[in-house]
Amino acid sequence: MMRELADNILDIAQNSISARASLVTIEITVSHERDTIGLTFIDDGCGMSQEMARSVCDPFTTTRKTRKVGLGLPLLKMTAQATGGDFSIASELGKGTTVRVSFGLSHIDRPPMGDVPGALFTLVLMNPETDFRFVYDYDGKVFVFDTREIREAVAPVPLDHPEISAWIKDCLVQEINELHGGLFS
Ligand SMILES: Nc1ncnc2c1ncn2[C@@H]1O[C@H](COP(=O)(O)OP(=O)(O)O)[C@@H](O)[C@H]1O
Ligand SMILES: [Mg+2]
Repeated sequence: MMRELADNILDIAQNSISARASLVTIEITVSHERDTIGLTFIDDGCGMSQEMARSVCDPFTTTRKTRKVGLGLPLLKMTAQATGGDFSIASELGKGTTVRVSFGLSHIDRPPMGDVPGALFTLVLMNPETDFRFVYDYDGKVFVFDTREIREAVAPVPLDHPEISAWIKDCLVQEINELHGGLFS
């Protein structure tokens, strides 16, 4: 079964959460001109060594004995490359990690978007202590969503308060659907 981009967004962001990031930035760039979809994840979590950063995205250079981790990153890398896209990971211990992945937008093997607003909302709701910055660029039309701003505006009410989270969900769904002009695939 093909994994949607929304699933991958949840997966990669979960790595940042596991790395105890306090701020996770997710940039989604759809460009018909370049025929690409780009995803960038930037976190300020625990990071990893250069050796680790190299081995996590290549399932073939490591053995099961030394690698007790999943296949999230290598699978994503293979999917990206199969669509004419790219994958890179840059990390520094104690500083954080940046993962960049791109896909050929019109490539037949490009995973469908899936429920991206729902995935972003899930991240905010399930991780009320973590800040998120979402930058969604659709052919140059840009929507920016930053929990730090919302947090400040509603303090001391937490982001997972039912009324606040309902508002956040509506905001993400409406703004992102509007960028896509109803053509969400
Ligand atoms: N953002 C990140 N910050 C720190 N370490 C990371 C990050 N992303 C991935 N890693 C490291 O790479 C490993 C492999 O990640 P992944 O392929 O998603 O598999 P899994 O999450 O199932 O272990 C993780 O277990 C973690 O050690
Ligand atoms: Mg993972």
